[in-house]
Amino acid sequence: MRAVVYKGPHQVQVENVPDAKLEHPTDVVVRITSTNICGSDLHMYQGRTDFEEGRIIGHENLGEVVEVGKGVHKVHKGDRVCLPFNIGCGFCKNCEAGKTAFCLEANPGFAGAAYGYAKMGPYSGGQAEYLRVPYADFNCLVLPEDAAEKENDYVMLTDIFPTGWHATELAGMRDGDSVLVWGDGPVGIMAAYSAVLRDARQVMIVGHHADRLKLAEDFGAITINESDVDPQEAIAEHTQGEGADRACECVGYQAHNQDGEEQPNLVMNNLVKAVRPTGAIGVVGLFVPEDPGAASEMNQRGQIAFDMGLFFEKGQRMATGQADVKAYNRQLADLVFHDKAQPSFLLSHELTLDEAPDAYENFDKRAEGWTKVVLKPGKNGG
Ligand SMILES: NC(=O)c1ccc[n+]([C@@H]2O[C@H](COP(=O)([O-])OP(=O)(O)OC[C@H]3O[C@@H](n4cnc5c(N)ncnc54)[C@H](O)[C@@H]3O)[C@@H](O)[C@H]2O)c1
Ligand SMILES: [Zn+2]
Ligand SMILES: [Zn+2]
Repeated sequence: MRAVVYKGPHQVQVENVPDAKLEHPTDVVVRITSTNICGSDLHMYQGRTDFEEGRIIGHENLGEVVEVGKGVHKVHKGDRVCLPFNIGCGFCKNCEAGKTAFCLEANPGFAGAAYGYAKMGPYSGGQAEYLRVPYADFNCLVLPEDAAEKENDYVMLTDIFPTGWHATELAGMRDGDSVLVWGDGPVGIMAAYSAVLRDARQVMIVGHHADRLKLAEDFGAITINESDVDPQEAIAEHTQGEGADRACECVGYQAHNQDGEEQPNLVMNNLVKAVRPTGAIGVVGLFVPEDPGAASEMNQRGQIAFDMGLFFEKGQRMATGQADVKAYNRQLADLVFHDKAQPSFLLSHELTLDEAPDAYENFDKRAEGWTKVVLKPGKNGG
């Protein structure tokens, strides 16, 4: 089969690799029809992780079940399924509690597993013609009859839409809150979209890409372009000097300043400043315990200079982590089914698998107009 393979920093290649196959009775094999490129793939693409060369990348996967293991009950050949980027076993302590991003069984010795992802187990990615799905009964969300028609909406349920929703949840959002989102990538836009769907009284989003911010403006968010205005002043103005009730961190450790220099503590400290006393911060932007590519020794150890004093003084709360996609994807699929959510508005590019190298290059540069890419492995011969 054809697959997108990581070849080293800033290099991916479409290659012929052995077909995905059943390895365990609880597996299914899915013919991938849609698979997105994610901001998280870029950490690997840039060589900022220890993702092994030769591995297939891709964790935002949707497709049709073509082979079913003997131990699978609920999922059938021909089903169209949406796959959370996290792989959960369904029976460990964390999966039982709905914390499927921290499964203790799927990747022994580490809490969390995913497809085609550094440190997250040996599982191949889905930017390929076929994908092996472990613990298939637990991990497959079988889609309703409009699956093909709304495929570009449903594929957003594999990661970024639930991740955006999770950011609002981690921030403890309630109806009528004032919500601040920092970061204008796909995750930030989905966090802002989730906050609007969840009836925030006000949603502000900070970034510096006019094309990305425009998407959020179109669904009613207040956009704050830090290239034009001082974001702290703008937030103070929009909140009558009080600060936001809730904030979503949607940038992560590769946050950069206006000159493009990385400053991993930049957004975190901005949020402490911008959130009101007793408010809360949900962090879904990725932070890592080791970052050999960072500029300072402290940052290389995965540490940041965090404004703990102000955070304490303001009595704020914070929660972090990968999104437990399964905790939200069924509910969000219902919103799509009932035409209450159309997350596909985020997609700027629908491409074939062969176009992946060019897509990675452009998405990595945050080239204008490249907000989100979906690859369609079935098209154009793969
Ligand atoms: N927690 C999870 O489950 C989860 C899931 C998916 C992605 N992520 C992470 O979320 C983060 C965002 O991913 P993404 O897919 O949106 O892609 P992305 O990397 O394109 O998004 C980040 C955006 O933040 C902007 N940015 C950088 N520095 C900034 C600053 N100082 N102020 C404002 N904006 C700034 C970037 O220009 C970019 O538009 C990444 O770290 C990714 O790994 C986490
Ligand atoms: Zn992703
Ligand atoms: Zn588990």
